[in-house]
Amino acid sequence: MCGIVGYAGTRECGDILIDGLRRLEYRGYDSAGVAIHTTNGVERVRAEGKLANLERAFRDTPLHGTVGIGHTRWATHGRPSEANAHPHMVDGFVVVHNGIIENHMELRDELEAGGDRFESETDTEIIAHLVARERPKTDSLLEAVRNTMAQVRGSYAVVVMNADEPDLMVAARQASPLIVGLGDGENFAASDVPAIMMHTRDVVFMNDGDFAVIRRDSVEFSDTSGAPVTHTAKRILWDPVSAEKQGYKHFMLKEIHEQPDRIIDTMRGRVSLETNHVHFPDMALDDEVLSSVKRIIILACGTSYHAGMVGRYAIEKLARVPVEVDLASEFRYRDPVIGEGTLIVAISQSGETADTLAAVAEAKRRGAKAIAICNVIESTLTRVCEGTIYTHAGPEIGVASTKAFTTQLVALYLLAIWLAQERGTQEPAERIELLEGLRRIPGQIEKCIQDEARIREFARNYVDVHSFLFLGRGMQFPIALEGALKLKEISYIHAEGYAAGEMKHGPIALIDDDLPVVVVAPRNEHYEKVLSNLEEVKARGGRVIAVTSEPAGDVLRHADDVMTIPEVPELLQPLVTVIPLQLLSYCIADIKGTDIDQPRNLAKSVTVE
Ligand code: M6R
Repeated sequence: MCGIVGYAGTRECGDILIDGLRRLEYRGYDSAGVAIHTTNGVERVRAEGKLANLERAFRDTPLHGTVGIGHTRWATHGRPSEANAHPHMVDGFVVVHNGIIENHMELRDELEAGGDRFESETDTEIIAHLVARERPKTDSLLEAVRNTMAQVRGSYAVVVMNADEPDLMVAARQASPLIVGLGDGENFAASDVPAIMMHTRDVVFMNDGDFAVIRRDSVEFSDTSGAPVTHTAKRILWDPVSAEKQGYKHFMLKEIHEQPDRIIDTMRGRVSLETNHVHFPDMALDDEVLSSVKRIIILACGTSYHAGMVGRYAIEKLARVPVEVDLASEFRYRDPVIGEGTLIVAISQSGETADTLAAVAEAKRRGAKAIAICNVIESTLTRVCEGTIYTHAGPEIGVASTKAFTTQLVALYLLAIWLAQERGTQEPAERIELLEGLRRIPGQIEKCIQDEARIREFARNYVDVHSFLFLGRGMQFPIALEGALKLKEISYIHAEGYAAGEMKHGPIALIDDDLPVVVVAPRNEHYEKVLSNLEEVKARGGRVIAVTSEPAGDVLRHADDVMTIPEVPELLQPLVTVIPLQLLSYCIADIKGTDIDQPRNLAKSVTVE
């Protein structure tokens, strides 16, 4: 969850490191630091809190040098504080780390028993102590790092420097992302591409078990045994501008507005206008495997899990394949049964979510084939799966997923249509109608987004409440869950999503005028039933915000506030009903003044368990 940047070149690296960290702040933002080789050895500046604090500290105590490392942290071991901020330094050995060292307690006990004194509560500091212990026994910093990493269990992306070896840094990767950027007379290490792409677009994605010695004029890769490894750099072609706010107050708002265009990107090249067939030219998984699928298990976390729940409806309805959806964090520990013909569909925006990666590994270990629905190109998930349907949502910076979700939905609809087409379970006319419906979705989302000012007006009435309930039936149940997740993560208001049919089995006891209920009730086969649920809430004095199809009709009589969606095919409704919920959460959080793009305690990619 932390962000790492390293630089070896000929330019002053302070600003390069801090600018890189700014672009990685989505990975963690509770403290940050940089360490630079200066004329006095290695010196560091660290600060608790947002990166702005580090920038201030660095302005007050600038460090000059051309080789350095930086880190932005999401605390796992030890609270956010300057002492726990990276880089950690022991006897001139300096370390930044992303991941978790699982055997840190026993290593720490052993090091303390040998006389080492620790300055922080982190697991990372152990690496610095171990490298300091190993270096005198070996010929090189690389060997010392290799011997150190052989002693630790867990996940890591690390970059290490030594005050006595000012022209190099050593990087290592195991189950946490790390890339090396190749420049002209300068080279980089980073957790993710945006950190370095203003300097170079030639990037090597390190594999698990890789080590790299990075100097200004060379990079050498090797494996755990010390054997050289050859990597070919990939050229990054996407546009850095999409990682900027472009005049919007928050990245989340920009990303909500981007959804129509990104959905077009998700569909691009996958739907033939001439034949109305779906195909995935970029997914390297042979048609035979996909068309012989007997059962699908969708694995994901958070918002991606909600997308998977919607996907289950679409795949089962169109392709008549049984689908299970499981939280990756649960699946990995429940001794799952993987029969013949089981296809795993792993969904992840980042492609780095630790639980999703572990769940896929578990399923593959038991013989399953896996495909990914993923946004981040070349992320770990895409490299462990047999094929990937990229969502092409572009960088999502706001911690709250919006465009990642709707593009995941579109990828799932396309997968469902494709499976139906290959298995012959859907009439061509129905497919054509559904594809036409999908093509109209961007315009319809655009229309929903135009309602923002009106939603903001009534959102004011809800900023002081302590709890919300979200209800939905069928495909709108996952949308209710997603609406509740969005609201709680950015506004800090407690919110619960519930299947509307379950209300009478418990949550109805909560209803009074202090618990607004958001009812997702577009016109569909469940409309009448959901309307009854809505009336049950009103009859008990509850306040209702309804999402329904226009014209709002009956709903207007019962709901306090109404958000409408245009008429869309029933199967595609989740793509539009989620938009007012995103806007409602955004407006409530914005009026409350919370830190919308970087909510407290969260990070964009959850690379630890
Ligand atoms: O990168 P992933 O899609 O695997 O992330 C999964 C969740 O951590 C993520 O969706 C999270 O729930 C979002 N912050 C929700 O907005």
